[in-house]
Amino acid sequence: MKGIILAGGAGSRLYPVSKIYSKQLTLIYDKPLIYYPLSILMLGGIREILIISNKETIPFYKQLFNDGSHLGLDIKYEVQAAPNGIAEAFIIGSSFIGKDSATLILGDNIFYGYLDFFYNAVKNNEGATIFGYKVNDPERYGIVEFGPDGKALSIEEKPKIPKSPYAVPGLYVYNNDVVSISKNLKPSARGELEITDVNKEYLKRGELRVERIGRGVAWLDTGTPDALLQASTFFGVIEERQGLKVACIEEIAYQRKFISLESFRKVIDEIPKCLYRDYLEKVYDNVKES
Ligand code: TTP
Repeated sequence: MKGIILAGGAGSRLYPVSKIYSKQLTLIYDKPLIYYPLSILMLGGIREILIISNKETIPFYKQLFNDGSHLGLDIKYEVQAAPNGIAEAFIIGSSFIGKDSATLILGDNIFYGYLDFFYNAVKNNEGATIFGYKVNDPERYGIVEFGPDGKALSIEEKPKIPKSPYAVPGLYVYNNDVVSISKNLKPSARGELEITDVNKEYLKRGELRVERIGRGVAWLDTGTPDALLQASTFFGVIEERQGLKVACIEEIAYQRKFISLESFRKVIDEIPKCLYRDYLEKVYDNVKES
């Protein structure tokens, strides 16, 4: 399974900062936004990862993650020349994907809680697995309608009159057909290659699974100033209360056994003195003592 983080976009709702700065580099409490989707892929056991963004932002991601080897990852980078739509990720990423299956996560999507819905999808996916999450403002999202048997009946992009409150979050698990399906898409009325059209094709083929995510999981998408503030507050509260960090990629790399304890030590030694390092020192000491 390959992983793709789509982390470009216009970020126009964050103007004026979007003139100079990519949304996914924004600080969410104590780390850049992109750490959160990256950590989801890592928790799902995905180690070959492609980060797609605009050419101005790629150097910043490279500064953050390099080739990922210090985390036991293999991270590649590709440019998306313009925000031509989410499904373009599979065209840009086609040689990276090769004959493999692919999970895509949007760079501004955060999941927190019990992630079994995702782990099961990565393990058991056959055609496509996408998710349904109940929201208050369905007209802003791709919306899935369920029949009485719980199977998906229809998917609509930003419907004026939504047929259900279930939005499709920016996390999609596909078999290799996603590459050819994306290559055959036509741009929508808004000029984008729509991920909803990919999902509709899988639905037509009878190969789309839509798993409902329960209310115990928080799905935050962070496209607006208010949403960024809420996400920072949310993780600030949790981290402060538990004394545990969310989306701490170095900790995850060690806990998921992507790196040895010796490599974990080296990673910590590279970090300047700061609270983030203090935290990792504590994790290291706990492991040493146990
Ligand atoms: P959006 O929320 O659709 O848009 P945006 O980030 O460009 O922001 P705005 O609507 O304020 O202009 O994008 C969702 C995520 O997908 C976000 O992380 C950016 C990314 N994205 C791309 O990288 N390329 C694309 O072509 C699109 C449509 C989105």
